[in-house]
Amino acid sequence: MKVMASAPGKVTLFGEHAVVYGHPALVVAIEKRVKAIAESRNDDVIKISARDLRVPGIVISYIGNEVVLETDYGMVLPAIAYINKAIELTAKELGVKRGVNVEIKSEMPVGAGLGTSAAVAVSTIASYAAVNGYSLSREEIARLGWEVEKEVQGIASPMDTSITSLGGYLKIKYGSNSVERIQLKVEGELPLIIGYVEREAKTKDMVAMVRERMQKYPEIYEGIMKMIGHVVERAEASLLRGELKELGFLMNINHSLLDALGVSTRRLNELVHVARDSGAYGAKLTGAGGGGCVIALVPEKGEIVETAMKLHGSMVLRTKLGADGVKVEEVDGKRLD
Ligand code: PMV
Repeated sequence: MKVMASAPGKVTLFGEHAVVYGHPALVVAIEKRVKAIAESRNDDVIKISARDLRVPGIVISYIGNEVVLETDYGMVLPAIAYINKAIELTAKELGVKRGVNVEIKSEMPVGAGLGTSAAVAVSTIASYAAVNGYSLSREEIARLGWEVEKEVQGIASPMDTSITSLGGYLKIKYGSNSVERIQLKVEGELPLIIGYVEREAKTKDMVAMVRERMQKYPEIYEGIMKMIGHVVERAEASLLRGELKELGFLMNINHSLLDALGVSTRRLNELVHVARDSGAYGAKLTGAGGGGCVIALVPEKGEIVETAMKLHGSMVLRTKLGADGVKVEEVDGKRLD
């Protein structure tokens, strides 16, 4: 038996980092998916292939006569760890011991802050359960996916695994023993442009850096986190009312607060300003920071903003928002609709 399950990537609209400390965040699924193809085996071997996990880029430096080529291929190895752990935890949960061949395909670059790791974990869980004859609910998959992220990453909020499991637009908040996930009904298309600049630090390191500073300067950092929480509440109301200018304004505040936390970089700040100066209603970094992605909310098609961001040297991604969550799409080559 062969099953293909897919799960979407995501962008965090508001509230990254503060979500780790119990404040709400707004996040949306994007129409760029990770596909996991699981094929059952008659033994207990687990074989993983991830031939087209795309990496964001390469850097070539010419130092005298020497050419130094750096790639982000290091990002691929951790992705494999998510697949392995997803199979292990799902097998344990379901009490199955069968081996499997899993192949992963991604329409997104790995490690860019678009939630690829969570989508890899969640699509693997869905396909491995299905190939063993189980159908897990999206909530169950989200819970297992979060376990996978915590085991591989150490510390992670349930944000990425929730959005890639449930899809759409989510407001998410979690505490020591509760996760609140509210699906938001957003009318129409949100005109958003995603720009990517090279990643200088990993999510794990950015989260750890914020944690250290939180311990050292609690009276300052707790205040910033709380303020991000207020921005998120205002942004939720504006999002539901379709007030784009207001949303852009709030994005700008959220970006400044993230910069105050120390997670922005010069290149991210420049890209944010390029977007604003070329007509965006607002722009902010999205995800953990330390490089990675910027989102810009633009009037109508936003061609000028897109061109300005490209000229500034960023990769630009346009995609539909509010994509469907994890789903089994094919069984033995037949599409399920
Ligand atoms: O860069 P990403 O998409 O992995 O963003 C991580 C978001 C954080 O809030 C910084 C961490 C988390 O686990 O929620």
